[in-house]
Amino acid sequence: MIIYSRNRRLRTNSSIRALVQETILTTNDFVMPIFVMEGINQQEPISSMPGISRRTVDLTVKECRELFSLGIKAVNLYMKVSEDLKDNLGTEAWNKNGLMQNTIKAIKDAVPGMIVMPDVALDPYSIYGHDGIITNGKIDNDATNDALVKMSVSHAEAGADVLAPSDMMDGRVAAIRTGLEENGFTDVAIVSYAAKYASSFYGPFRNALDSAPKKNQDIPKDKKTYQMDFHNSREAMDEVLKDVAEGADIIMIKPGIPYLDIVSKVRETIDLPIAVYHVSGEYAMLKAAAQNGWLDNDQAIIESLTCIKRAGADMIFTYAAKEAALLLNQ
Ligand code: PBG
Repeated sequence: MIIYSRNRRLRTNSSIRALVQETILTTNDFVMPIFVMEGINQQEPISSMPGISRRTVDLTVKECRELFSLGIKAVNLYMKVSEDLKDNLGTEAWNKNGLMQNTIKAIKDAVPGMIVMPDVALDPYSIYGHDGIITNGKIDNDATNDALVKMSVSHAEAGADVLAPSDMMDGRVAAIRTGLEENGFTDVAIVSYAAKYASSFYGPFRNALDSAPKKNQDIPKDKKTYQMDFHNSREAMDEVLKDVAEGADIIMIKPGIPYLDIVSKVRETIDLPIAVYHVSGEYAMLKAAAQNGWLDNDQAIIESLTCIKRAGADMIFTYAAKEAALLLNQ
């Protein structure tokens, strides 16, 4: 039998494979999430996320210089807030001299080209570990939006380039956009966590910030009244289209690899840039397997991130960004 069409012809060697490669991963695709803590010249490894540490502001700036020199052009910031600064309203979140605001200023002063994307959500600042303010035992959507606007404006004042609301309250993109426009921050962009699912894959992150919802029978025990149900797909599109209409500049889908069906569906429907968050649990699984010798760490990282891009991501938030950049620069 004669086989006229043979797919293997274009796989014969690495040169021809390179010619027909459809998806090329580069350091331009990466956003590196970083954890910041109070103090000077200190760094604490996060046990559930091998290779990742919390750092004080000075060491964070140093790290940002290094990331930028490797070709990473954006960082996503998270603060470890001490317990005595937490309350139900998350008041510390819009302190002009808060850890976040000082970190944004320090990074922009030292590495002006670095795109700084602070996380906008109350959970690290909430005594309850929730992204929303609690009123009568429930998440108070609209009061939370007011707080998020104050937080956003304070991030913009500190010099943030792109705000990253990760809270999933209804209407918050419109509220934040309005707040930014009213205060003259017309060029500050919003990457909206549009389809963020209530996921077990956020566990290691919550350890890193000590921000898991508190066990208290008077408050919701999980985030399922605001984050999406992982059984749903159509609802993701509804969330995305609402955030586009409210003025989001970039749309986020989160988590990453278990949710690539959602990424590819959204890619077919919208033309705005799409960000995908390869979350802490995905990173931790990969690291755990690699540490046991069950997976090749370097190959698994490059493959995972390339597949996220292939599904339709324009940018990938990943804890593996630095490692991947080192591999790609080799
Ligand atoms: C909280 C927030 C979370 C993440 C980013 N922002 C956790 C959560 O929603 O509980 C998760 C990131 C990760 O797991 O890597 N607003």
